[in-house]
Amino acid sequence: MPASGKNNSLKNWTDTELCRRLKIKFPIVQGPFGRGASSALLTATVSNAGGLGSFGANDLSADAITKVAAEIRNLTDKPFGINLWVSTFDDGGDSLDENTYRRVAELLKPYYQELDIQAPPFETIRKQQAPNFEKQVTALIEAQPAVFSFVFGIPSAAILNECKQRGIVTAAGASTVEEAVALDEAGVDFIVASGFEAGGHRPSFLKSAEESLVGIFSLLPQVVDQVSVPVIAAGGIADGRGILAALTLGADSVQIGTAFLACDESSANDLHKRILFQKEAQATVLSRSFTGRLARGINNRYAAEMKSQEARFAKYPAHSWIVAPLREMALSQGRFDLIALWAGQSAPLVRHHKADRLLAALVDEVENILTTRFS
Ligand SMILES: Cc1cc2nc3c(=O)[nH]c(=O)nc-3n(C[C@H](O)[C@H](O)[C@H](O)COP(=O)(O)O)c2cc1C
Repeated sequence: MPASGKNNSLKNWTDTELCRRLKIKFPIVQGPFGRGASSALLTATVSNAGGLGSFGANDLSADAITKVAAEIRNLTDKPFGINLWVSTFDDGGDSLDENTYRRVAELLKPYYQELDIQAPPFETIRKQQAPNFEKQVTALIEAQPAVFSFVFGIPSAAILNECKQRGIVTAAGASTVEEAVALDEAGVDFIVASGFEAGGHRPSFLKSAEESLVGIFSLLPQVVDQVSVPVIAAGGIADGRGILAALTLGADSVQIGTAFLACDESSANDLHKRILFQKEAQATVLSRSFTGRLARGINNRYAAEMKSQEARFAKYPAHSWIVAPLREMALSQGRFDLIALWAGQSAPLVRHHKADRLLAALVDEVENILTTRFS
């Protein structure tokens, strides 16, 4: 039994708060993928198989959120989650001034030249806008998914109350104990403790992401000890061993990203999925070079060369607007040395190409370990 006593017995590992509240079979959440890597099919496949599928909607308009919720409902009658980013831009990142544009375009010039493309004109880029969280969350609440999960901050009390009234369960990302306590005090239903092993963006919101890097073995038990609500462990979990380790440290449930990202049903591009199964996936790095916010992905030439240039980057998401054409062209040329390949540190443990098989394997692995080592 974990020290916290929040999980009664590992033998009853599926009898958790998340499973009880949502009436799902397994305490396994498919992590949401923002910036286009989620799919309705992946979300529904995981929910149909007894886990909790999630859709990352941080880049979608309010109308698109309504549409995607309907699309998921066409594929499943089981609970699912939709995820948003509470803060949709960093200071100065919601628009781009000409000086910053010129600085970043100059920095990226060798790559544009290498790919034989032009920098996107300033006039095009300055029309772009960061998504409006208030509009997104209004559409999300109206769509009424079973779960509203979010990162990068705390929504207003009015939003959290509205979720409670409508029976939408809230799950909030924390990268430090301090963030977890703030979220607990705000009244969220579940905390997602995100270890720095995790793929994708660091969800930090109280201090800088660089000052909030804690591994899941250290973060999880501390969060469990400090908050009053159940904790979902995220980061570095890719098989049954990881699930049991997290439950032993006091997690109610787990959230798995990279292993689901690699599945055929995700919307990650084929190049990205292929590399997740190759030796390149053994080395991941945290970098701001793709979007302006710190995120973990497979180390490649662009991330390595940009490491010393961070002071010249634009803020999130403006930085990603200037990088976007580079990404598109590099992708069309199969240039994995230049694109973001989000992945967590456990990517080398990824084995499965089908999401339902992955979920079934995770469950089998947990059951096998319990039978062979704990009976
Ligand atoms: C490509 C990618 C995109 C992600 N986007 C989001 C997101 O928009 N919102 C979120 O809460 N978590 C996001 N995450 C984090 C995952 O949902 C999950 O918590 C994390 O991947 C778990 O760690 P793991 O990769 O070690 O399994 C993303 C992860 C990846 C790999």
